Amino acid sequence: MTIPDASTLTSLEHISTAVHDCTACPLSPGRLKAVPGDGDPNSDLLFIGEGPGQKEDEIGRPFVGAAGKFLDEMLAAINKTRADVFVTNIVKCRPPSNRDPEPSEITTCTDLYLWKQIGLIAPKLIVTLGRHSMALFLPATMKISQVHGQPKRFRGRVVLPLYHPAAALYNNAMRETLIRDFRKIPNVLRKI
Ligand code: URA
Repeated sequence: MTIPDASTLTSLEHISTAVHDCTACPLSPGRLKAVPGDGDPNSDLLFIGEGPGQKEDEIGRPFVGAAGKFLDEMLAAINKTRADVFVTNIVKCRPPSNRDPEPSEITTCTDLYLWKQIGLIAPKLIVTLGRHSMALFLPATMKISQVHGQPKRFRGRVVLPLYHPAAALYNNAMRETLIRDFRKIPNVLRKI
């Protein structure tokens, strides 16, 4: 089991290398490619999804499947591309059969990588995609159906919880809500 020395993870490049070599949790043996995340390391906007799916596991980049295409369309609607933002996931390796990541996998992966990525990118706004990502930042009592699209404070940062694009793909009402919430991003950013 390879657990990187945390003191060496001082840049996004170091984190990316460590993620590719990581065997710190039971997800690593099942992956094809680890998915550290990518985009503009200086972006004001950080998107955090749940974990790589099949396509992401094959390619090694976040949100490259159907949900990613939808994410790209919503970004285009606010005049942004993937190169303007940073996109990553709670866990960097695909859970088998796309099951939910286990709490211990989430803790291992976020303690090693996600919290450091957030510190290094220092985004003005963190956009969580889906309830698992939201749960890292907001109290467990908050339900995504009640707080989606409402900016919240978290340790000096602003977090905007949104529905997950994959959940919204085949649910028209959720899709419309997600599109509407997504369009709030420029205004939320301006107000920070
Ligand atoms: N779903 C996620 O949560 N993350 C990805 O990278 C792709 C699909």
